[in-house]
Amino acid sequence: MHIRPRRNRKNAAIRAMVEETQLGPQHLIYPVFLKDGKNIKEEVHSMPGNYRWSLDQLLPEFERWMELGIRTYDLFPAVDEALKDETATYSYADENFYLHVIRAVKERFPEAVLMSDVALDPYSSDGHDGVVIDGQIVNDVTLPILAKMSVAQAQAGIDIIGPSDMMDGRVGVIRDALDDHGFTDVSIMSYTAKYASAFYGPFRDALNSAPKSGDKKTYQMNPANKREALIEAELDIAEGADFIMVKPALCYLDIIHLLKENFATPVTAYNVSGECSMIYAAAKNGWLDYDRAVMETLLSIRRAGADGILTYFAPHAATLMKG
Ligand code: PBG
Repeated sequence: MHIRPRRNRKNAAIRAMVEETQLGPQHLIYPVFLKDGKNIKEEVHSMPGNYRWSLDQLLPEFERWMELGIRTYDLFPAVDEALKDETATYSYADENFYLHVIRAVKERFPEAVLMSDVALDPYSSDGHDGVVIDGQIVNDVTLPILAKMSVAQAQAGIDIIGPSDMMDGRVGVIRDALDDHGFTDVSIMSYTAKYASAFYGPFRDALNSAPKSGDKKTYQMNPANKREALIEAELDIAEGADFIMVKPALCYLDIIHLLKENFATPVTAYNVSGECSMIYAAAKNGWLDYDRAVMETLLSIRRAGADGILTYFAPHAATLMKG
């Protein structure tokens, strides 16, 4: 036998030399849930270890995450039911607590990169990402609302806008609105290939944002489709996306790879709530080694081609990376 692949695995130094995929805190984006008020730290029951934070409780914790080397955060608002309406007007209102939190965090941690979520669902009395008229999610009526929301977030100091709504044409409309208001340096990380997935369940618990009727299949992608992701990516890039995201990550590693091979625009992947909760649950039962399962999951997403990974494992993974 002349070729023995095991020789390149025989000790830690050689294994490290030939290691193909790197994973560090610079690749992590941590999704964080926010709530209006004071002294709030509510655990999301389907996402152990993840909380809805009020600003005062968030800041000291945020400092700890920064010390772990996590630099990028995706912020999500849990909005009081009473403030929701059919056209999500609270999303761009001056008194929106989310905008206030963005401002306060940016002021306290100017070196943090803050990303927002742009979609109607956390603010919508229908729980859909677009405006619902006669039971239909209406694309073109939704676009100007997404643009207003994006401009309000940019005014609050957001670094990256994250449209998660899957309306056609939204990246272009948001890009124009940002540029018209002088925010040419604000980036867009588009949820490019976002599938109608069962794995968003725990997130919808966190924000109480599940659709009040129907499902999201007329705007989120069919899990059976792959070539359609190329169409979405071409459009988003042409409309000015700085990053193209695949979501969820684990059932869609082939899509991450496909976009990485076909486009030069950086690819990110969202390791969504249900994917993380599966691992928490199995580990809690003693069925999996939590630390190893977390690191292997993140490594596999990087190996598939993701530049950045949105993951609820971020603080734990960054702690493990520190050794
Ligand atoms: C809202 C949004 C969702 C997620 C991110 N932004 C849920 C959905 O589309 O229903 C899911 C994130 C997760 O499951 O971790 N548009």
